[in-house]
Amino acid sequence: MSQARWWQRGIFYQVYPRSFQDTNGDGIGDLDGIRARLDYLVTLGVDAVWISPIFPSPMADFGYDVADYCGIDPIFGDLEAFDRLVADAHARGLKIVLDFVPNHTSDQHPWFVESRASRHNPRRDWYIWRDPAPDGGPPNNWMSNFGGPGWTLDPASGQYYYHAFLREQPDLNWRNPAVRAAMHDVLRFWMARGVDGFRVDVIWHLMKDADFRDNPPNPEYEPGDPDIRRFIQSHSTDQPDVHPIIAELRGVIDEYEDRVLIGEIYLPIDRLVAYYGANLDGAHLPFNFQLIHASWSAPRLAELIAEYDAALPEGGWPNWVLGNHDQPRIASRIGCRRTRVAAMLLLTLRGTPTMYYGDEIGMENVPIATEDAHDPWEKNEPGLGVGRDPERTPMPWDASPAAGFTTGRPWLPLAADSARRNVAAQMEDPASLLGLYRALIALRRAHPVLHAGTYRKIAALGDVLVFLRESEQECVLVALNLAETAQDDIPLPPGTLGRVLLSTARDREERVEGHLALRPDEGVIVALDARI
Ligand code: GLC
Repeated sequence: MSQARWWQRGIFYQVYPRSFQDTNGDGIGDLDGIRARLDYLVTLGVDAVWISPIFPSPMADFGYDVADYCGIDPIFGDLEAFDRLVADAHARGLKIVLDFVPNHTSDQHPWFVESRASRHNPRRDWYIWRDPAPDGGPPNNWMSNFGGPGWTLDPASGQYYYHAFLREQPDLNWRNPAVRAAMHDVLRFWMARGVDGFRVDVIWHLMKDADFRDNPPNPEYEPGDPDIRRFIQSHSTDQPDVHPIIAELRGVIDEYEDRVLIGEIYLPIDRLVAYYGANLDGAHLPFNFQLIHASWSAPRLAELIAEYDAALPEGGWPNWVLGNHDQPRIASRIGCRRTRVAAMLLLTLRGTPTMYYGDEIGMENVPIATEDAHDPWEKNEPGLGVGRDPERTPMPWDASPAAGFTTGRPWLPLAADSARRNVAAQMEDPASLLGLYRALIALRRAHPVLHAGTYRKIAALGDVLVFLRESEQECVLVALNLAETAQDDIPLPPGTLGRVLLSTARDREERVEGHLALRPDEGVIVALDARI
């Protein structure tokens, strides 16, 4: 594995730029802010920074509505600030990954302004326009992911356009070769500027059914569910002909040396792995969100790890994601007490880990009243619990009034406990969650078996998960107690001899012979003397 690529060895860290670090006092984070915190990321030990969209945008969906793919929104800075960020990151050995949003643009993008101008505009076919149904209603039953129909009537031309998300986010027509060529040039623009890769937004949405057939009803839909659950998205997403489109994107990525293509895909495992491409010519890393949706029990985790491993195509590199800007914080999903074991799991599984900013200090969802919501999904479908503001709140850096995030008023409230739970406080305390993350990352670096070794399940007994990571040179055993109760005598395979390298409590390094004792919510990594 000495020839492992950086995106196989490394750890990704997602920055939500509005909430990382503000430098101009407007209460919103910016590129100079990220640059100012690069040394923190080096201290943490991560390898690559994925930054959510920073392009000019009306911010209807906080940057996921792009009005110019080749610029920087003034809220975040400008191209010079971006170049400074890339240069300083590269000088520290950090990679920069951008968020590419190809499925839709902003309705303010000049392409859409032209497209909507008339039925005969040369850009008309850049978007998805259809005549009304015979009754004058939307062309089919496709819904918007953010509530209501996925179609909006343009009264001037009498046609509807499709938007899988907000009506301010019209979907591009990826069947149009001119659209594809324009988007390929966007990738080239950023790679020529030094960008190391892309996370591709909703990549499984790019192609829709050519005949625009209705989606089938979802038998599991219940009143009170968000609108998008009314139908199964079988005709509006995950079409077989998306794969050649992705292979083209990959071809563009491969024009430049050593860049990475990551796909955002929310699909069951069997369909997810198709996004590696039939000949591994798809995404290098189709994001694996299994840990986000899993119920947190040892048997369930063991099962999903096995399912994923079995489904991976030959040569396909695994990856694991614990959180992102669309999902409740891990600490809120599984409870603070289990965040240490979750960290150990993420950083000892086989495959590239992706962390979400602030999870390393145990940030929790910050409650935000519906009337204070910024997230357009929450505004469209209030009270269903779909809002994403709670997981997007500013990073607390220190105990100063706005937690060192801004000198102004933060765009979203800081967590109430920011004076106590912040980076500076945890940096000084080796027993903190941040201390544990740093130790785990350092260990992953020092023991190549943790990124390159094979995975073998030993046991999922009660609520204890035990597995091995093995290579020719090393063998490491990981034991995680997911229960609130102590496990005093966990049997290990006959002949197990070794030494504790790290406990989630960071207070033991004893020899291990044949069995282990774990305290509630404790995990340990054990270096074995020999393979078993
Ligand atoms: C992705 C993004 C999400 C955004 C949506 C529309 O799921 O992660 O934040 O709202 O796509 O672009």
